[in-house]
Amino acid sequence: MDVKAIVAKMTLEEKAGLCSGSDFWHTKGVERLGIPRMMVSDGPHGLRKQDDAADHLGINDSIKAVCFPAGCAAAASFDRGLLTRIGEILGEECQAEGVGVILGPAVNIKRSPLCGRNFEYYSEDPYLAGEMAASQIKGVQSKNVGTSIKHFLANSQEHRRMSSSSQLDERTAREIYLPAFERAVKGEKPWTLMCSYNRINGVYAAQNRKYLTDILRGEWGFDGFVVSDWGAVNERVADLEAGMDLEMPASFGHNDREIVKAVRDGSLKEEVLDRAVERILNIVFRFEENRDKAAVFDRERDHEAAREAAAECMVLLKNEGALPLKKDDTVAFIGAFAEKPRYQGGGSSHINSHKVEAAWELADKKQVKYAMGYSLKEEAGAERLIMEAVELAKRVKVPVIFAGLPEAYESEGYDREHMRMPEVQNLLIEQVAKVNPNTVVVLHNGSPVEMPWIDSVNGVLETYLAGEAVGGATLKVLYGEVNPSGHLAETFPLHLEDNPSYLFYRGEGDTVEYREGVFVGYRYYDTKKMPVLFPFGHGLSYTTFAYDNLKLDREVFETGDTLKVSLEITNTGACAGKEVVQLYVAPGKSWAIRPVHELKGFEKISLQPGETKTVTFFLKDRDFAYYDPETRDWFVEKGMYGIEIGASCRDIRLAGEVSVNGGRKTVKKITMDTTLGDIFDIDRSEEARALLGKVVFAGISDRDDELLGESTKEMREAMMRDMPLRNVLSFGDGAVTLEELKALVEKLNGLAG
Ligand code: BGC
Repeated sequence: MDVKAIVAKMTLEEKAGLCSGSDFWHTKGVERLGIPRMMVSDGPHGLRKQDDAADHLGINDSIKAVCFPAGCAAAASFDRGLLTRIGEILGEECQAEGVGVILGPAVNIKRSPLCGRNFEYYSEDPYLAGEMAASQIKGVQSKNVGTSIKHFLANSQEHRRMSSSSQLDERTAREIYLPAFERAVKGEKPWTLMCSYNRINGVYAAQNRKYLTDILRGEWGFDGFVVSDWGAVNERVADLEAGMDLEMPASFGHNDREIVKAVRDGSLKEEVLDRAVERILNIVFRFEENRDKAAVFDRERDHEAAREAAAECMVLLKNEGALPLKKDDTVAFIGAFAEKPRYQGGGSSHINSHKVEAAWELADKKQVKYAMGYSLKEEAGAERLIMEAVELAKRVKVPVIFAGLPEAYESEGYDREHMRMPEVQNLLIEQVAKVNPNTVVVLHNGSPVEMPWIDSVNGVLETYLAGEAVGGATLKVLYGEVNPSGHLAETFPLHLEDNPSYLFYRGEGDTVEYREGVFVGYRYYDTKKMPVLFPFGHGLSYTTFAYDNLKLDREVFETGDTLKVSLEITNTGACAGKEVVQLYVAPGKSWAIRPVHELKGFEKISLQPGETKTVTFFLKDRDFAYYDPETRDWFVEKGMYGIEIGASCRDIRLAGEVSVNGGRKTVKKITMDTTLGDIFDIDRSEEARALLGKVVFAGISDRDDELLGESTKEMREAMMRDMPLRNVLSFGDGAVTLEELKALVEKLNGLAG
């Protein structure tokens, strides 16, 4: 399709009109030119196609669809293939329903456990979030349906999400908040990207040329269109110029008229408008020309896939032997969630589920009994419910309590106030655990919770919000039909107060300062060596794994090289299982303030009992680099780097080292205020050393020794290093003159330059 030719035939009004929706979910069509409308729908973990009354809050009904595990659960799978398979299914469902773009994945970083929308997001770690997003996009787009990776950028809270400004420094943006988008955009070319509601350092995301154009298109090569989050447009003309192409939903012509006016009065170049129209039409026609008439939305088939997916995501947090259950064990399912599971979050991702499976409904009623334990509706009668549960728990081998967060505790639109579960559930767990040491807790929640009872229970299975087939999947994992293989994509802190953003999370008014900088999640907890409830990457299995034979293919890594890291992993237990092997890079001493280690690779490996496999990782410059705001580039610093292989960020099984022959951070311009240490570091040429030598030695005399008394040579050297050049005049025993120092500065600047 010659999109340029079509644009050339469009009137100014038609072009301006095309830059906003025709209603809540459709782009505009232009009949006389054969431009079709295109439908978009939420995402991200199911199809929320609204036929009738439209809204973006998940209030009105959408067509019946299949609810897959939400982002929080999907990321815990650490399984790229699984995310791609889910993506393929969503893509096919969209084809069958005529939906051109599914709005997701949502890759915002989990800065705090409080974010109401954490359940939709993947991780506190940008590498993992990026890998998961790229995998899902790959799946959806393989079916010729577009994705809309969202919400760009730094939208890590719901509180005042439409007006707050996320204040973050360049390094934090580059290292934490941008990479998930970067990975997905560069690798999988999402058809569209959704800008967020908030501002970034004062500038609305919708109007942020730096992000929407300079970085997104200029640096990463994005070639789709940018769509506003629903209602995120603030000043239509300025937004268009910044790179915000499609306004959603419709603004009833108001903003279109602003565009027309601006072109007419010359304040907006028509090429800018044409460019946006072209971008939108490219996608509209890409979908239109690749419609798959044979695609079917087979809800039963997809429900089965949702069950398989859910089982792959569940994380066994603790197990002292009560799990897996045996078929002939007497078991009590306790808790309202056993009968009516919580499996998805509230808001725009809310799916009108085709059917929902509850664990109790599918349980073998001969072996399993049920007690409600708590009510999700009323507080009255709580004591009686607990007593009934305790009585039942006494009579069975294993009580399994289904607990977690009720719907109102977390949702799009508001943040949590705390990390606690309902008090009545905590009480129930404590009382049951008192009478039966085999007590197991199954959790349904979208974000970490405190577990005051953790030491008194035998096991904990974290199912997160696992989608509509949660019940069947939970049974499979509880009974060992599926060996759990999920690992946490986020840290479970002991207390909310431990979280690095705790003091300033919601911000003051509209100002939200990201003061923890790059120290998000385990980057903070591990650097501070803080105890946590469960660390990032943690997840148990019914089998055990041995890590062995770590090999690095070189001792010295030159920039531009690829470092090959390999190791062997063996299933040393009695049943088949999958392990998530994680690779962390640990920079040694650095000029910059850096986290102790960062995830740079992971592989999910499936092993039969006794089987051994080799796992290989490849590391490149960027895996060692930090972002240097001064040069506005990634910087690989010379030094020793640890290569850590672990089953979590706190369970490092193998460690090696590589010497990275990178650059050294030095001062660019020498002045009288530059320290001697910095001067020594800039240039090691003989001439410079000779000049400096004279100065340095002039500064060290017998009199200094007397003055310093017992101080050590190291101390004197350290003081020397930190002394500005100008001080050589006062401490140099008159050995150098001001003129000599000035000449030295000039000479060194010449050398450095
Ligand atoms: C949400 C988006 C969603 C859109 C459309 C907004 O409120 O932030 O994630 O895609 O509505 O429903």
